[in-house]
Amino acid sequence: MEIVIRRATLDDNPEWFNMRKGIWPEAPDEYMDFDMDDILASENDAVFFAWVDGKPVGMIEARLRDYGEGCETSPVGYVEGWFVYPEMRGKGIAGALTQAAEDWARGKGCSEMASDTWLDNEASIRAHLKMGYFEVERLVHFVKQL
Ligand SMILES: CC(C)(COP(=O)(O)OP(=O)(O)OC[C@H]1O[C@@H](n2cnc3c(N)ncnc32)[C@H](O)[C@@H]1OP(=O)(O)O)[C@@H](O)C(=O)NCCC(=O)NCCS
Repeated sequence: MEIVIRRATLDDNPEWFNMRKGIWPEAPDEYMDFDMDDILASENDAVFFAWVDGKPVGMIEARLRDYGEGCETSPVGYVEGWFVYPEMRGKGIAGALTQAAEDWARGKGCSEMASDTWLDNEASIRAHLKMGYFEVERLVHFVKQL
């Protein structure tokens, strides 16, 4: 199986939207697509798609962040979103996407890459570990009605 990785373009927006919904199914549609054009135009962001047999099968969103938890340098590359369609998982596609994002961050002068996921996202945690990431911190999120 050949995995082709390439930068996303505006034409990929509908597919990218679907993949974002795959990561954050409960987020409102407006929230999912409000920043897509800006991200593609930004020097500080990169979105890569993985293609197999001419079909998009996964994506990674990477960004330069001034601060990454557990990091010692700044800026750092940060994995903002990572998705592979369920039927294509376990074939190394996320690994290929991660490599592209890391190469991009390295090219931007970064020497560290950071990421996060939910505490109960076993597949993602294992995939991160397998790719050489190690756990540095656990966060708790809060909300108060105003
Ligand atoms: C996380 C995710 C992107 C991994 O994609 P993937 O293409 O299946 O990952 P890979 O095939 O490249 O696997 C990389 C390594 O992770 C590990 N891994 C991945 N999924 C796993 C699972 N379900 N159980 C155990 N280990 C797993 C494996 O060790 C694998 O290494 P190996 O192939 O040498 O065994 C995918 O599961 C996904 O899209 N999940 C839903 C969205 C999500 O949670 N995104 C992350 C939060 S932003």
